Amino acid sequence: LALTFAMTGIAYLLGSVSNAVLISRFFKLPDPRDYGSHNPGATNVLRSGNRFAAFIVFLLDMLKGTIPVYLAWYLGIPPLYLGFIGIAACLGHMYPLYFHFRGGKGVATALGALMPLGLDMGSFMIITWLIVLLLSGYSSLAAICAALLAPFYTYYLKPEYTLPVAMLCCLIILRHHENISRLLHGNEPQVWSRHRLKR
Ligand code: G3P
Repeated sequence: LALTFAMTGIAYLLGSVSNAVLISRFFKLPDPRDYGSHNPGATNVLRSGNRFAAFIVFLLDMLKGTIPVYLAWYLGIPPLYLGFIGIAACLGHMYPLYFHFRGGKGVATALGALMPLGLDMGSFMIITWLIVLLLSGYSSLAAICAALLAPFYTYYLKPEYTLPVAMLCCLIILRHHENISRLLHGNEPQVWSRHRLKR
């Protein structure tokens, strides 16, 4: 149990590293909390125009989920607790200790946390996200649809993880409340649109 607590803490602390802010600083881009959707995530860094930086943010945010869950699995921590460790990493991303608790929406980190569940799970998630993104052009809608379907995929592929995955997905959908209201009002920007959100 002590090991599980320690891993949950480590996952939260690692999740708290806001890669969108740090990578933007590194590439001398504006702070993602100051433009677009004000969200420190890969989608918003993409709005800066630097695709490479956005890709690096996505990759590093994913690793924040993969590393602690994989490590905990390697240490023999049982499935339910692995799920909570994944949630801790995402909570770190959403409410980061080092960035005044103002973080992102947890999409890339959740995807990273689901990766150790298997290639089939990871592929289902990425394919769902990509299909919705290509059909609609909305990164947020793609994430919301993937989050809605993830508990069902988990139930069929890895039932022992259904509860934590469902909890994580609820969190992610709640974090998208502003996107949901923009989608409903028709003013959510598409990823490839030149139209940017107001500052
Ligand atoms: O990964 C976050 C994405 O789903 C939405 O990002 O910047 O459009 O709010 P954003």
